[in-house]
Amino acid sequence: MLENMFGARELASFWLADMDFKIAPPITKELERIVNRGVYAYEFATGEVFDAIVDWNRTRHHLDLNHRSFVQVSGVLTGISLLIRELTQPNDGILIQTPVYHQFARVIKSNGRKIIRNPLQIIDGNYEMDFEDLEKKLQANKVEVILLCNPHNPVGRVWRKEELQTLLEVANRYNVTIISDEIHADIIYAGYNFNSLMSLSVGKHISLIGSPAKTFGMQSISNGYIYIPDEIKMKQIKKTVGAMYLNHGNAFTTFATIAAFQHGGPWLDELLVYLERSISWIQKFLHEELPLIKIYPVEGTYQIWLDFRPMNLNQKDLTQLLTQKAKLALTPGGWFDRESPLFMRMNIAAPLSKIQAAFQQLSIAANENL
Ligand SMILES: Cc1ncc(COP(=O)(O)O)c(C=O)c1O
Repeated sequence: MLENMFGARELASFWLADMDFKIAPPITKELERIVNRGVYAYEFATGEVFDAIVDWNRTRHHLDLNHRSFVQVSGVLTGISLLIRELTQPNDGILIQTPVYHQFARVIKSNGRKIIRNPLQIIDGNYEMDFEDLEKKLQANKVEVILLCNPHNPVGRVWRKEELQTLLEVANRYNVTIISDEIHADIIYAGYNFNSLMSLSVGKHISLIGSPAKTFGMQSISNGYIYIPDEIKMKQIKKTVGAMYLNHGNAFTTFATIAAFQHGGPWLDELLVYLERSISWIQKFLHEELPLIKIYPVEGTYQIWLDFRPMNLNQKDLTQLLTQKAKLALTPGGWFDRESPLFMRMNIAAPLSKIQAAFQQLSIAANENL
């Protein structure tokens, strides 16, 4: 993939949002149990999966979910794509808050819907939603859905309850459904709490909640779960999913997910402490050695959002500095928003020693550049 994306193999990779860490031992043990059993018959246990997700959210986030409101699909993006097709018509507008996970724009475009941008704004060094612009965009366009990233990839915001409440109020006023992608729900740092959209008053809004992909590093063996409080809508989506046989899953995913949510808590707690230590190291290093690179507050997710604008480089020179001189593969900010070409996203779910080496390389390359 490095060769394809960056035209070079010998780069330290920090661009994809997955983990360099081994998954939690109870998950591996469960996968081994299935392999050792050597039987791969039809085996569906979605009820147990939903129970594990419900229990996890109750204890972890004080969030009460209803077992019966889940619909299983093969991934979070599958879920979003399916919802877009079910809830909107070709050429309808779908609003996103840029810079945002680049697949949002892709899933809207590839389904023949129109992207409406409501850019986040930087206020006092932090990203905030722009509600004034949101109202304008909803007035001026036929928007049927707001696609929310909660917590937000790549800027690392963990949306506060009041922010989500205001968003919901505006959406309700314009009869717009919010689809809340909550895949990053469990990577939350000290001082912040995850607020699911589902913790607000029950309405038309829908959530993609309960994916173990990011939480437990199960990117290539996880499903997506659509959570729809509105029973009529839930039945409609379930019917479509059933008609397409999208809900079968496989035994590895099913039992790994149950093991993760039932027994992965202590591993996740350790991971979060480790990531926080890495973030502190990065913040200190940038402050002392590379003050021209700004890091935004990291409230959640294992992505950090770096602002290279103060270095006064153009986009080509920045790419050259990172890939050819520092030998790093970071995710270009332009992927998330056409206005952010001088930003980079960096995945920090990696050993601190690898991160430290990367920043040393960057420091040497940047100083040579001055
Ligand atoms: C916000 C967000 N949604 C969805 C995904 C992908 O989810 P899945 O692989 O289950 O489709 C990612 C992966 O980076 C993501 O960051």
